[in-house]
Amino acid sequence: MKLFNTKILGTGSFLPDKILTNDDIAKRVDTNHQWIVERTGIHTRRIADLSKDESPSGMAKLAALQAIEAANLTPNDIDFILVSATLPDMFFPNTACMLQHKLGITNACGALDINAACTGWLYALPMADAMIKTGVYKHILVVGSEMTSSFNNWDDRNTCILFGDGCGAVVLGRASENEDSQIYSTTLAADSTKKDHLMLQAGGACKRVTQEVLDKGENWVTMNGQEVFKSAVKTMASLSEKVIKDSGKTMEDVDWFIPHQANLRIIEAVGNRFGFPPEKVIINVDKYANTSSATIPIALDEAIREGKIKRGDNLLLAAFGAGLTAGAVFLKY
Ligand code: ACO
Repeated sequence: MKLFNTKILGTGSFLPDKILTNDDIAKRVDTNHQWIVERTGIHTRRIADLSKDESPSGMAKLAALQAIEAANLTPNDIDFILVSATLPDMFFPNTACMLQHKLGITNACGALDINAACTGWLYALPMADAMIKTGVYKHILVVGSEMTSSFNNWDDRNTCILFGDGCGAVVLGRASENEDSQIYSTTLAADSTKKDHLMLQAGGACKRVTQEVLDKGENWVTMNGQEVFKSAVKTMASLSEKVIKDSGKTMEDVDWFIPHQANLRIIEAVGNRFGFPPEKVIINVDKYANTSSATIPIALDEAIREGKIKRGDNLLLAAFGAGLTAGAVFLKY
């Protein structure tokens, strides 16, 4: 069987215009700019506006159009869509189908949602890679689109400072014979013994949203921040080391590290743990906070458009999220 190498053909991103500062949040809950910056590195985040269709699928449309254009394709060239939206537009139809519709795709391509919380977009990459590699599909749109403001409890200072809205998209396709772009190695993991540390309990089949649920605030995200922090550092560092080793390369071969942007201290601790040079780490958590599964594709797109990341660079990606899920991908752009 002939195998193909997978290449990132194009990237795109979308961030809502509305900026929410730490001082804005401090007007509602007992916190302050200095505390938030010291503990998280976050200065601002973006907030989606549904009246402008900045829904998960609406933001995804704008990011996807950029990615498709960057890939020199048209929407109907896409033959499979994978979307990670931790809180989707609605439970069904899935957000990938909503996106297919908004992009005006008429080729009836498959459209699937993936939920691994903040790790969702990274989980989608190895799946898309396998389908490209084996020739099943030619052009797969992989999107992380997140409206975290819809599950963020604006009265809980422990969590509301952390999240923001936004979307990142890539088009994956086949590298031609004379190119060396490829996904070297991937690893995905989940530690369900820690499932209770990060949850959005209500809204699914087990707990519908009733007045009682609303009164108890079970429709908002809950988190054991310190446990998530410790686990994030440990797993992102160890899975990063694993994908580098599996590829037969070394840390010196990594040109850029794009970690999940949840907290600057987590990013720094991961880098310190495996001795990675800070100047090679892509960071934008200060501007956008944690956009869940959208953080890595947004950071990737920005760094490419700024000219930081160039064709041929080796990129290390690592993420973690509720579950607790985690993963790492090592690739040549
Ligand atoms: N402003 C001021 N004080 C605060 C705030 C705030 N916004 N939030 C908490 N505090 C207080 C606490 O009440 C506590 O006070 P106390 O000592 O009187 O009890 C004190 O600050 C210290 O709280 P800690 O929780 O120990 O603070 P920590 O240094 O651990 O930072 C944080 C908290 C930022 C949440 C950190 O634990 C973290 O980033 N964890 C990881 C969270 C994360 O990444 N979540 C996303 C996961 S990805 C996904 O899938 C959604």
